[in-house]
Formats: sequence, C-alpha cells, structure tokens
Amino acid sequence: MAEPIQPSGKLWGGRFAEATAASVEAFSASIQYDVRLYRHDIMGSRAHARMLARQGLITGAERDAILQGLAEIEAEIDRGEFVFKPELEDIHMNIEKALTDRIGPAGAKLHTARSRNDQVNLDFRLYLRDEADALDALLADTQRAFARQARKYLGAVMPGYTHLQRAQPVLLSHHLLAYVEMLQRDRDRLAGCRQRINIMPLGAAAMAGTGLPIDRQSVADELGFAAITANSMDTTGDRDFALEMLFCLNLIQVHLSRLAEELVLWSAKEFDFVRIGDRYCTGSSIMPQKKNPDIPELIRGKTGRVTGALMALLMTVKGLPLTYNRDLQEDKEQVFDALDTVKASLAITAELLDHTEFNVARLRAATSGGFMTATDLADYLVRRNMPFRQAHGVVGRIVARCQERDCELIGLTLAELQEFSELIEADVFEVLTVDGSVNSRLSVGGTARLRVEEALAGVERFLGMAS
Ligand code: ARG
Repeated sequence: MAEPIQPSGKLWGGRFAEATAASVEAFSASIQYDVRLYRHDIMGSRAHARMLARQGLITGAERDAILQGLAEIEAEIDRGEFVFKPELEDIHMNIEKALTDRIGPAGAKLHTARSRNDQVNLDFRLYLRDEADALDALLADTQRAFARQARKYLGAVMPGYTHLQRAQPVLLSHHLLAYVEMLQRDRDRLAGCRQRINIMPLGAAAMAGTGLPIDRQSVADELGFAAITANSMDTTGDRDFALEMLFCLNLIQVHLSRLAEELVLWSAKEFDFVRIGDRYCTGSSIMPQKKNPDIPELIRGKTGRVTGALMALLMTVKGLPLTYNRDLQEDKEQVFDALDTVKASLAITAELLDHTEFNVARLRAATSGGFMTATDLADYLVRRNMPFRQAHGVVGRIVARCQERDCELIGLTLAELQEFSELIEADVFEVLTVDGSVNSRLSVGGTARLRVEEALAGVERFLGMAS
C-alpha cells in the first residue's frame, strides 16, 4: 500500500499544491553520488527500527517487516537491479519509498522520530568510519613498501639535501624510513579523526530532538559508536568530521607528492638515482626515446584536487547559520572524490616503490663533490675542544682552499690541513670518509647504520613484517 498520492509525488509533498519543477529535481538530486551510502543507510535504518520496536513505537511485526524489506532492497541494490529515481532526490528517500511500496504502512513508520538531517549525518559517519579503516590499511601497506626497500638497500649511501643542495651523506634507508614516519603520523591523525567520527548523531531529528521516547544510547551501542552527540542543533549542522577527514586526506596526499617529486627528479638523467620499472612509466607519442615518470607526476598533480576538496567544503560551511542547510549536501562529492584519489594514490605508490630500483653506485658517487663531510671535520675540531663557531670558520677556510685546488677535503694532505689548525691529526681522515661520516651520526634518530638498523627493525616489527 502506497502513501496517499500528493500532487508533488513526494514523500514530503503534503503541503504542496504543485508538482516540483523538473529543473529543480535535476538541480537538487544527490542520488547520483549518495547512492554510495546505501549499505550504511540501511545499517542505520535497521538499528533505528529495532530501537523503535524496543521503545514500543512500532510493533515487533512491523520491525520484522521493515528488516525483511530492507534486506531485500539491499540485495537488489547489490545485484544492480534496484531502480533509483532522481525525483526521489537522495538515497534516503529512494530506499524509504521502495520499502513502503514493498511492505506498506510499516514502511511508512520507519521515519518515526528521525529526520533526513540526522539520518544523513549518521550515514556519512558510518561510511567514513569504514573508510578510515580502509585508509589505515592502505597506509600500512605503503609503509611496508618503504620498509621493504629500506631493508633491500640497507647500507647504500646517498647525499642528503637541504635547499636541494647536497648537505650531508646519509643512508638511503634513512631517507626511505622518513616516509614511514610521515605515514605513521597520518595514521595517528586518522585514528584521532575516527574517534570524532565515531559519535552517534541519530535522535537529533530535524534539529531540536524529538518528543517521542527514543533510546539513543541503544542505537549507538548496536552500531558500535563510542558515544552519542550532545546537542541536537550542533549535530544536524556539523560536518567537522568530514572536514577533518578531508584534512587527513590532504596531508597524506601532500606526503605522497613529496615522494613523487623526488621520484621525478631522481629518474631524470641529471640525477639518475632511480630506475622506475617500464610497467610503471609511459612513453611519448612523438619522441621515441622518452620514458616518462607519469605516475609520480599524476600523484603530485592530484594533490591539487584533494586540496581543492578541503577548500570547497570549508567554504561551504563558512558562514552557514545553524543548523542543517541544504548547502551541506555539497559535502559528499568532495569527500568521495578525495577518498578515491588518495586511496588510488596510496595503492599505486606502494606498487611503484616495489618496482623502483635504486642506482647504488650513482648514489654513492653523488656523495663526493660538495664537501659533504665538512660538518664532520668541524665536529672533529669540537671534540678537540675548539668552540663550534670557530671550527665552522676553520673548516670554511679549508673548503675554500679545496675549491681553489679543485679537490675534496680528503684530497688535502695532513700537513696542508694542519696549516688551518694544529688540532688536526692523522686520525682526521676517518671522519672525512662518507662511511665514517654516516656511521658517526649515532644520535637517536640519526643516520648511522646502527641507528637505521634499529629503526628498521622497529618498523618491521610494528608493521608485522618478517625481517
Ligand atoms: N540529501 C540530503 C543531504 O545530503 C539529505 C538531507 C536532506 N534534508 C533536507 N531537509 N532536505 O544533505
């Protein structure tokens, strides 16, 4: 049995004398994209129906009819057989209408003590909670890809850069493990975001709560929420959890863009530090010799759209009066697009890493030229009690001498070095080598092989990898 036909043909059409303009239906429908929420919408409706029955607001038989109807609708959508109607606006009304068409008056009771304003908030939270878990798994996979390369190339040295100028020699594994740290912060941030997603909004109803005797806590318990929202007006107008998710996504993509930039640079002939597997590169339609790093370029480029999504939703929420306004419907496409983009970028980054070979000889060669052990020489003088500023000046003058001679620090003789300071003795040459420099950096978090091995073992243990 369907509800009485309204001239507008809408579930909300009681007070309307005219049918909705086709242009309005087209402009306002969200079903094209919020269809993604169908499982979570049905999950929320199940919990809501059970609560209504527990509270005596519907009968046990009505609850069972609703649950049965929802199960059939879900299966139909799963099979791709459900016909979505744009004139029913969104996923919530498409499902509710189908339920009522299917089971009659019991279906019309499902929306008791509920509004789409709290319903959409619930659905979005349920959806994003799952997405947070999926993202965390992808982040962990990507961390494991970095750790595999760090293990494979343990011992390889390379120049560490500041200002994109060669600064100090480091282990390649140290560089790779830096990304594991970034992604770990992303995971921690996401876990915090998930905590704030995981608060149950249903029961805020349109915005003022409801006069019917609902039990919000039991719905939260059934759906696995940690708490229920405190203020119905805040609840229906709140999209902070979506904005926070967008920020988390942004920082992930920004981190990936930094690796992407390095891979682009490092695969250029000028660096020649990496070789990305053919399967992960593309060619040029005109220049037969070209092998282009399009995948890292796209990862880098997609950062723009992910940032755009955050900016767009921030601007949608800016200046919105409480509580729910239809503007908020603009939240979903931005979040969906950012999620798709970041998930795809994470997955392909992990693949790309697995298919990247580092040119160990070239990396080592790049550590000579550029006086990269100059800080080590200054530290050597400091260990012999010279104040650091003075040592900095002494080594600066030694570097200038080397430039005149067109040689490396290690190219000077002991006598030549001693012209600059009598504190310099024969053991100086140990600190002037690249490996001596790297392995002297034993401070916690430093690049000495010993420290990097410890860090890598810790990461592998944490990520459940056999080392
Ligand atoms: N499709 C709507 C959205 O995404 C659902 C809530 C509609 N509420 C309303 N009062 N029109 O925000």
